[in-house]
Amino acid sequence: MKMQKIAIINLKGGVGKSVTACNLACILGQMHERHVLAMDLDKQANTSKFFKTFNPGISTVAEVMMESITLSDIIQKTDFEYVDVAPSSMSMIKANREVMLDVTRPQHNRLRKALNGIADKYDYCILDCPPDIDMATINALVAADWVIVPVDCDEWAFDGLFEIMEQVDAVRENYNPGIKVMGILATKYTRGTYSEKVLVQLDQLDKMHYPVFRAEDGSVLRIDYSVKVKEAKTEHLPIYCYRVPASTEYRQLADIVEKTVEGEKR
Ligand SMILES: Nc1ncnc2c1ncn2[C@@H]1O[C@H](COP(=O)(O)OP(=O)(O)O)[C@@H](O)[C@H]1O
Ligand SMILES: [Mg+2]
Repeated sequence: MKMQKIAIINLKGGVGKSVTACNLACILGQMHERHVLAMDLDKQANTSKFFKTFNPGISTVAEVMMESITLSDIIQKTDFEYVDVAPSSMSMIKANREVMLDVTRPQHNRLRKALNGIADKYDYCILDCPPDIDMATINALVAADWVIVPVDCDEWAFDGLFEIMEQVDAVRENYNPGIKVMGILATKYTRGTYSEKVLVQLDQLDKMHYPVFRAEDGSVLRIDYSVKVKEAKTEHLPIYCYRVPASTEYRQLADIVEKTVEGEKR
């Protein structure tokens, strides 16, 4: 299988991008035995930290974006067989500025070029994006085959969604005709609150505009809120180590990802 690059993106912070990126990487790696590269593009480096690959002194994706080092030089192994990480750090701030100002070389396809160099080593690359449309995010979209948009089930769930989709459309038109939205993923669902409304809205959105992940019974797939998600993160463990709904739900997501990617190949 050709390496499938999946960008996890939302303009809002705190919606579960990094949790989704880390868990998807772990499930595809450990349970599906796919070779996965988790690429961290956020200066907050949550994914790097989860996989114990964070170190402020080392070269990261920032240096790859500035083209001072190759991607294979920064890739690190993790405690999980099959899962490697391309870490980030606060240097992403500098990298975003530098790439933006450097008009002497192409600015948008640096990650795509870098990823082409390692494409035969992995089945998946999961790109954990920052809550911004910065040069790193644009590079991720130019490189990506797929986009997953986590949306948290709260009052301002849909803020920025239109802007993301517009950005994806612009990148498709100008740089990456193959990019597809795999789906919007409802996260942090809590029963009996505003969450229900968000699910209804997502159901309608799916019928009108954008694909939304659905469970096997056809209902909107949701990742339940659980304190264990936070606990798992601090223990550097994937959520499938805990018996909570989010564990099954993230495994369902990984199944859908595999099916979607397979379907595309046929
Ligand atoms: N399903 C969930 N249940 C409980 N807490 C969650 C869940 N998903 C994410 N969180 C928590 O919400 C916060 C933001 O999640 P994170 O993945 O870092 O968001 P983002 O990457 O979009 O900024 C983190 O503290 C994380 O542990
Ligand atoms: Mg994050």
